[in-house]
Amino acid sequence: MCGIVGYVGKRDAIPVLVEGLHRLEYRGYDSAGLAVLRRGRLAVTKTAGRVADLREKIAGREKATGKATGKAPPGKGAVPGKGAVKSTVGIGHTRWATHGEPNETNAHPHTDSAGRIAVVHNGIIENADQLREQLTASGVRLVSDTDTEALAHLIAAELAAGDTAGDTAGDATADAAGGDVALEDAVVRVLAAVEGAYGLVVLDVAHPDQLVVARNGSPIVLGLGENEMFVASDVAALVRYTRQVIYLEDGEAATIRASDFHTTSLNGAAGASAEKTPTMVDADAGDYELGEFADYMSKEIHEQPDALRRALMGRLDERFATARLGGISLDARQLRGIRQVKFLGCGSAYYAGLIGAQLVEELARIPADAEPASEFRYRSPVVDPDTLYVAVSQSGETSDTLMAVQELKRKGGQVMGAVNVVGSAIGRECGHGIFLHAGPEVAVASTKALTNMAANFALLALLMGRVRDLSAASGERIVAGLRNLPGQVSRILAAESEIAAVAHRFAGADHMFFIGRVRGWPVAREGAQKLKEISYVHAEAYQAGELKHGPLALISPGMPSVVIVPSDDLVAKNISTIEQIRARGGPVIAVTSASVPDGLADAVITVPRAEPELEPILFNVPLQILAYHAAAKLGRDIDKPRNLAKSVTVE
Ligand code: G6P
Repeated sequence: MCGIVGYVGKRDAIPVLVEGLHRLEYRGYDSAGLAVLRRGRLAVTKTAGRVADLREKIAGREKATGKATGKAPPGKGAVPGKGAVKSTVGIGHTRWATHGEPNETNAHPHTDSAGRIAVVHNGIIENADQLREQLTASGVRLVSDTDTEALAHLIAAELAAGDTAGDTAGDATADAAGGDVALEDAVVRVLAAVEGAYGLVVLDVAHPDQLVVARNGSPIVLGLGENEMFVASDVAALVRYTRQVIYLEDGEAATIRASDFHTTSLNGAAGASAEKTPTMVDADAGDYELGEFADYMSKEIHEQPDALRRALMGRLDERFATARLGGISLDARQLRGIRQVKFLGCGSAYYAGLIGAQLVEELARIPADAEPASEFRYRSPVVDPDTLYVAVSQSGETSDTLMAVQELKRKGGQVMGAVNVVGSAIGRECGHGIFLHAGPEVAVASTKALTNMAANFALLALLMGRVRDLSAASGERIVAGLRNLPGQVSRILAAESEIAAVAHRFAGADHMFFIGRVRGWPVAREGAQKLKEISYVHAEAYQAGELKHGPLALISPGMPSVVIVPSDDLVAKNISTIEQIRARGGPVIAVTSASVPDGLADAVITVPRAEPELEPILFNVPLQILAYHAAAKLGRDIDKPRNLAKSVTVE
């Protein structure tokens, strides 16, 4: 989804901004742009293409004006040449179109007519039509179709009105009375009339030493440097420069200058400024480097053994055969009082929740299920005070999940987070929970975060089971099984070339089925999701038992089925499913930890046998590899599938 970056300090702002935008590319975008202050004027560059195109455009322009030279590698930005005018303040943006098609005019930053104000914005302004009409009626010519442009004009008008009032009252300048707050005040006043979600950064020609930022529903994080300050929508854009960050809360604005910053409330508490303690980001620039890998998805698939080790580290209690989850602020008695567990998430986080629900039911014998957070938030859910809700999110910023949490809290529900990004909105809103410890995940398609979600839910299920009826012996078996997982994932990764060969064999299919039952069912759903999102092959998941109630009609030689066969007491049933499909001419790829008869399937992908309850965690991995190599064979842009974003911070 859209990305924001801003800089004020001593460096040349352009390379910092371009590098930041490059780091945000993974979120998904369709156009990009930046604005810097140069010789007291705004210099705006935009493109309907990629960040690399933006960099080329800037470099070309600088060269043409003889002010800069050099071709920098991707992400390194234009290199100012001798005599170049250095811009030390600026803002940049990668846009994901909401209002208006993705073209250069609609790309951010947007400016007012006089070129005084530049704005970058994430989110959606819901009363944009009304604001745009008001502006047009007052004679403003809007050049783009965006909601954001209205903000630039409104802020400029507010500042102009302030300047006029100041002159009338005989004040020297509006700022003289209020220090540096004139711009911030204008932004706050304008936002009072704005409905919707935003994270935004404002640059004003008349305030060259500062940027004003505001947040309501879209993440904004400040990065603190030595006599320089950064702002971004995602720490990925900052970690190259600083690991000290401040997360802005919803309803807050801030003014940032090279040497300091202050925050203020957007809700009328004039001048209210919360004391902010910087947080150290648990990642560094190296975590975002590709290294030997062709793309982030492949890198992240291969990071899974280490990610799993981190998730388990310090959390397995061998002595009492249970899990230690210090982030959950429920004691044993409170945990015992939980009568139901419900996982809420979107996309892969929802599928991970389905695995979690199964684990909780099996190990703790508490009714559990999962629901897409996007449905939950809209359907006026019945919230039971004895249900533990678990909000699942890699990014911790997914709008639908955050809204579901807020709805739950309004209704007095108990909710904990299961998030990967420390300091993210969902984690903070929940107040307690489990961090996934997967490390930064860049590829749109979730792999290591999903695996760590499922492993963390096994820990939660183990803990809840052990405060209830799960025996110490069973607890020991699960603890040992969890310890084995990282090594077992490594064994699956070692067989990547065989799985790739299977993927290449079937990549030409237009449609595929993913079939599972009970433990295999969430795995089948996530497998189908993975294939469709990165390869664009139509894939559907069905419960094995449901095949005969409809989907069997679609079985043909052109419709391969991936059938999940874990080592449980349903192996015979799953074998008979494979036979039914093949009897109707459908090719079958069996993914199995059991021993299936030779020749039963057209291709077999073998998964190491694990403790039966934990097998769904492992089975995801070969399906990721299968989807990855099918997409690679089809020449897809694996890390940035069309129309998708890593983090969906709007509805
Ligand atoms: C988007 C991504 C999915 C992801 C989902 C939830 O739809 O494309 O890959 O699973 O958001 O994201 P979250 O950050 O909340 O886990």
